[in-house]
Amino acid sequence: MNVLLAGGAGYIGTHTCVELIEAGHTVVIADNYSNSCPEAVKRVEEITGATIPLYEADVCDREAVEKIFSENKIDAVIHFAGLKAVGESVAKPLLYYRNNIDSTLTLLETMEKFGVNNFIFSSSATVYGTPKEVPLVETMPTGTPTNPYGWTKLMMEQILSDTAHARPEMSIVILRYFNPIGAHKSGRIGEDPNGIPNNLMPFITQVAAGRLPKLGVFGDDYPTHDGTGVRDYIHVVDLAKGHVKAIDYAGEHKGVEIVNLGTGTGYSVLDIVKAFEKVNHITIPYEIKPRRAGDIAECFANAEKAARVLGWKAEKNLEDMCYDSWNWQSHNVNGYK
Ligand code: NAD
Ligand code: WQD
Repeated sequence: MNVLLAGGAGYIGTHTCVELIEAGHTVVIADNYSNSCPEAVKRVEEITGATIPLYEADVCDREAVEKIFSENKIDAVIHFAGLKAVGESVAKPLLYYRNNIDSTLTLLETMEKFGVNNFIFSSSATVYGTPKEVPLVETMPTGTPTNPYGWTKLMMEQILSDTAHARPEMSIVILRYFNPIGAHKSGRIGEDPNGIPNNLMPFITQVAAGRLPKLGVFGDDYPTHDGTGVRDYIHVVDLAKGHVKAIDYAGEHKGVEIVNLGTGTGYSVLDIVKAFEKVNHITIPYEIKPRRAGDIAECFANAEKAARVLGWKAEKNLEDMCYDSWNWQSHNVNGYK
């Protein structure tokens, strides 16, 4: 298929691009570089040997999106183009609602106009809110997000379900990602956050690289095996392969499916620190800090539906994730800059 990757220059988009091309698909990327840069796409071209049609475009801009659809025969859209910083979404809710929801509506309306029916959406485990029990199963009720970012994901899931019901010719796959970390084995593409990282792994790799003095561990009094928060970390290359499976699935089915992309295993903050130290032979200085507002104790997936419906299962382990995260950061101390 020829797949439009909205937000394809970003962390998950670039990795998905590589896997789609390696699986024999072709891609077109649209990105406004609000959290990425054209260099990332150049590196995908270097890894794959492909030439990628690249549009600098805001996917909330209807004219720009229609131009892409008129100039390319698009078979499917993967929508990564979202703002994702939880704290910033609290400070700037309208920016988040405008960007994340408008981009989804604009893409869906343009798809309808051009008769494109396959849509894959980047949702998040954040829609489960504070879990009553783990592992999280897709049939469990969604929760109350603790921030506007999470609300945008929940609202977009609703928009997509309503759209699929109204347009039975459509195939929509909503992928609820757990915690993607790691990088492509080449070390040429990886996560490159703006400013001080909010997420655990980029914070650790920046401490390892000497860009930050030490890690703050947010809370050691959770009801978990060592008191620190437990998450389902998934290698970004496994996650990217999940999108290839979702594209194949969408080509053969109609309707809407919601699928968790996680490993099914939870690791604590200190498990991650210890594994990173062991695999990479680097000490990560850390101090215990108070809990971070809005954090939950434990979050991990039941990954059975992805195996059953998409034929997908994560293959990489925690050591691979720690090794590849550092391989990327150590070869690109300042990211793509
Ligand atoms: P990212 O910021 O690296 O990638 C998003 C890309 O979208 C960036 O390149 C950005 O420039 C682009 N973009 C944003 N708004 C745009 C717009 N209006 N028009 C065009 N381009 C736009 O983030 P990521 O980690 O690759 O995440 C991709 C998607 O997955 C996001 O929707 C995010 O919410 C979702 N997600 C991410 C995680 C995670 O932990 N990384 C977890 C769950 C869900
Ligand atoms: C993981 C663990 C922290 C940083 C967030 C979003 C979620 C999703 C993924 C997009 C937690 C601890 C972290 C640090 C720490 N994104 N931590 N020190 O919170 O599970 O999820 O990113 O959809 O919506 O909320 O990920 O990487 O921020 O935190 O101790 O400097 O690491 O408390 O236990 P989180 P994270």
